[in-house]
Order: sequence, then C-alpha cells, then structure tokens
Amino acid sequence: MTEPIIAVRGLRKSYGDLTVLDGLDLDVERGQVVALLGPNGAGKTTTVRILATLLAADGGTATVAGHDVRTDPGAVRAAISLTGQYAAVDDLLTGEENLRLMARLSHLPADERRTRPARLLELFGLTDAARRPVKTYSGGMRRRLDLAASLLSRPQVLVLDEPTTGLDPRSRGDLWDVIRAVVAAGTTVLLTTQYLEEADQLADRVVVIDHGRVIAQGTPAQLKAGVGAAYVEVVTAAGTERIETDGSLDDVARILSGLDAREVESWQVRTPTLDDVFLTLTGRPADETADRAADDATPVLQETR
Ligand SMILES: Nc1ncnc2c1ncn2[C@@H]1O[C@H](COP(=O)(O)OP(=O)(O)OP(=O)(O)O)[C@@H](O)[C@H]1O
Ligand SMILES: [Mg+2]
Repeated sequence: MTEPIIAVRGLRKSYGDLTVLDGLDLDVERGQVVALLGPNGAGKTTTVRILATLLAADGGTATVAGHDVRTDPGAVRAAISLTGQYAAVDDLLTGEENLRLMARLSHLPADERRTRPARLLELFGLTDAARRPVKTYSGGMRRRLDLAASLLSRPQVLVLDEPTTGLDPRSRGDLWDVIRAVVAAGTTVLLTTQYLEEADQLADRVVVIDHGRVIAQGTPAQLKAGVGAAYVEVVTAAGTERIETDGSLDDVARILSGLDAREVESWQVRTPTLDDVFLTLTGRPADETADRAADDATPVLQETR
C-alpha cells in the first residue's frame, strides 16, 4: 500500500476551554476525493487550516505528501492549495487579469505563466467572462475563479472548504462538474461540506466528524448501508406503510404484487440518504446545520487568512 498523501494522527486543537479537535485521525489516498462532513463548529475549517499550515495544532501530527506540517511547512505549502487562500481576487480587475497576476507571482515555468490562465479560464467556463471585472461576476463564477486561482500552481492536493455553500442548485451543479474535471486530471481533493448530497455526489470516501472527532467513515454507500435497509413506502387511505426490501427488482416486484392496487394511492422505493446517516450518528437532523450554513453563507469562499 502506498503512503496516504494526507495522514493525520491524533490532531488536537483548543481555544481556551473549548476543545475543537479532540484527537482527529484522517487518511487521504492519492487520487481520492474525501469529504469531511460535519455540522457547524465540528472542526472542519480548523482541520484544513492546520493542513494548509495556516494554523498550528496543539498536539498530534499531520503530513501532506510526506512532509510534516509543523517541521516542513514550506514543502507542505508547495503540495497543497486551499481554496479561499487567494480570496484576494481583485474585484476591479478582470478574471483574466487576476489569473495573470497570480501566475506572474507563482513559481510556474515562464511558458506556463503565459498559457495556464487562459486554459484554466476555459476549463472553468469563464472564457466569455474573462475580460469583465470580477465585481460583475455571480457567486458561482467567483468561486470558479477562486478555484482556478488555486490550481494555477498545479497542487498535488486541493482542499475545498465548503465549496458550494450559498450557491443556487444550478451553480452548485456547475461547480461539481468542475471539481470532477479537476479530479479526473489527477488532483487529490479533500473537501469539507455540510451538504450530504455534495459528499454523496463527489466523494469516494466520507469522513463524518462531530466535536472534533471522527464518528464514522466509509464510502457513501457503506454509510447509507449502516443506517438500514431500503424500503418500499406505500400510502393508502389507512396511512403510510414501510416494507423493508433488499432493493432488488425481484424483491420490489414481490412486494408490489402483494398490494391491492385499488387501495394504494402512491408508492415509492426509498433508500437511505446521507441525511439519514447523520441523524442516526448524531441524533441531530442534518437539515438543521445545512439551513444554518445557508443563513450565514458569504458570497466568497471562507477566508483562510
Ligand atoms: N480563533 C478562534 N478562537 C476561538 N474559537 C474558535 C476560533 N476559531 C474557531 N473557533 C471555534 O472552533 C470551533 C470549530 O470551528 P471550525 O471553524 O473548525 O468549525 P467548522 O466545522 O468549520 O464549522 P462551519 O461549518 O460553521 O464552518 C467552533 O466552535 C468555533 O467557534
Ligand atoms: Mg468551516
């Protein structure tokens, strides 16, 4: 087995009496997409800021691409890019000017400094808007530009802290497509999210954290399986009935054929969602946290400096 590109062991961080990270462990394999899923205050941003060397842990270890964040922060910074890091996209400059400026400041070879901004603008669907000032961009366009900026330096690991919080469903879907393209190009992605659907859509593996500890992890399918079986929900005048199923066509057909069509008002096959997972694990509905996230959403990605 190859060494994980991110390895976190027993990470601890407190602010006064408040324990934010309480012995967090996390592994991310090269090429994987891992979602760090948790409610407000779970410690997601704290974790990714420690990984990006923007914040020091109180205890435990973290390595990125084999480099220790504490003893070798320069090497870590060369390997990782945290979106939001370049929140200094200048509103008065165009998207293209922003990327060109950042490319000039980067350590890219001279020819890439010239060619890479245009290629990223194209990959992120910003070619048409490239010559407009960023202040005219929508929230979704801004985030795509932010992402493009993070990728200028060709990081091995891209960290996205709540990449789609506050976006409308369409922009969110667009951003998911862009993230998938980044992953397909070989970048390892660690993303934090409060959106269970987002983890389900993007992640190979989901790590659920609460109060600074890992409370569950696995593939989205494994987490859902841990919550219970699929069921057929049948609504009749008498009420709603749930009949467990293994989800196979044969089994669903068997259940449906046992129903009286004259009595059934509606039926559907339901499989557990990650919302169900969260409720089972924490006793709190995930909606509660997702709604709060939407309330305090900011138009740009979370600041990291
Ligand atoms: N500089 C700080 N001083 C004191 N408390 C802090 C500081 N930074 C974070 N905290 C607290 O640490 C806890 C974890 O914060 P963190 O930002 O890591 O959570 P999160 O999982 O990213 O939450 P969210 O989903 O709201 O972004 C919160 O209770 C927060 O208030
Ligand atoms: Mg956060």
